[in-house]
Amino acid sequence: MKIVYLNPSGQTGGAERSLLDFMASLRAADPGVELRLIAGAGGAFLQQARAVGAEAEALIYPRSLARLGDAGSQSGLLGTLGRASLSAPSVALYTARLRRALAAAAPDLIHTNGFKMHLLGAWAAPRGVPVLWHVHDYVSPRPLMARLMRAQAGRCAAVVANSRSVADDVRAACGAGLRVFPIHNAVDLERFSPAGPVLDLDRLAGLAAPRGPMVKIGLVATMARWKGHEIFLRALATLPDGLPVRGYVIGGALYETEGSQYDLEDLRALAGRLGLAGRVGFTGFVDDAAAAMRALDVVVHASTQPEPFGLVIAEAMACGRAVIVSRGGGAAEIVTPGEDALVHEAGCAYALAGRMVELARDPALRAALGARAAESARARFARARLAEQLLPVYRLLRAEAP
Ligand code: GLC
Repeated sequence: MKIVYLNPSGQTGGAERSLLDFMASLRAADPGVELRLIAGAGGAFLQQARAVGAEAEALIYPRSLARLGDAGSQSGLLGTLGRASLSAPSVALYTARLRRALAAAAPDLIHTNGFKMHLLGAWAAPRGVPVLWHVHDYVSPRPLMARLMRAQAGRCAAVVANSRSVADDVRAACGAGLRVFPIHNAVDLERFSPAGPVLDLDRLAGLAAPRGPMVKIGLVATMARWKGHEIFLRALATLPDGLPVRGYVIGGALYETEGSQYDLEDLRALAGRLGLAGRVGFTGFVDDAAAAMRALDVVVHASTQPEPFGLVIAEAMACGRAVIVSRGGGAAEIVTPGEDALVHEAGCAYALAGRMVELARDPALRAALGARAAESARARFARARLAEQLLPVYRLLRAEAP
């Protein structure tokens, strides 16, 4: 069976990490599956896809399409820009090139992994080849995208959603007629494990090593605004003075999309205004997220909007960390509050600070949560499950194809 994957970006964000895990899992389960990736831009993701056994090539997006928001929400100006860019002649040209590339690849199935590719894939797929949309984000906050996806729903054979919450949203936004299969992500449990290399976060952030014992609390996230960096900083700023806590903002800007990301300099300035100098460090992008997480006592997830899944949460659990999760969305499906994670109200710095204080003061609680998180991760997030859930969907769609 030959699968072509279409991914908008060439950089490795959450949706791309997820796809790499699916590919690795499929290869391990059935070496006869041929994997081929076509990405809308070049970048490290292509190399990583080759490393898990896929062929990979970039079919570079025209600029108008590259800048059209995938990660942010599309309302107002962006919605107008979106309509304009999608009708641009360059998009028609790109669709024609993609159609030729797909015809030449002659896949049994096309698996699209991001909003723009859901549409382009539906437009460009050779007749009779099933198209599967793998949806990683909520559709309803993107009214333009919802409308376009609804219009193409007839060309979509099935949807895989990264949580039940996203699956419900896809049905509500794109039509109840779509067949949606929720499949939670998994993580590479060998890489994301409690033991292994540990990064020196202080050095990376340019901070002096702390003098005494210090509880290290970090937010690991892309710089998308809804990931809650500001809430994290504000929570740190309300902690009692004597509490030995140091905060870390780990991650850098990733997607080309304009207007939906924090600028690291703005965040540094905010930290300065909040009086956090010396109490928080900014590491920028780190390659080895597992080694960064192992350097932390507590990993914070602070998304201000419902999180579709929250790969960072699964990764931090697999590393045996104490995790504080923002309540809501698909993230609520992957933790058991009070057992293997603590939760706080999304967007509430005081609630988050309260959880931080609890954990900073109680090493035994941190250890217990971390141990149970590692156990949950082994039970829920092993990569072998991905192929077990996805292969039957592929086979079903193939069997139905003309
Ligand atoms: C998207 C979602 C995130 C999820 C990831 C992988 O980035 O926003 O919640 O973890 O995809 O499915």
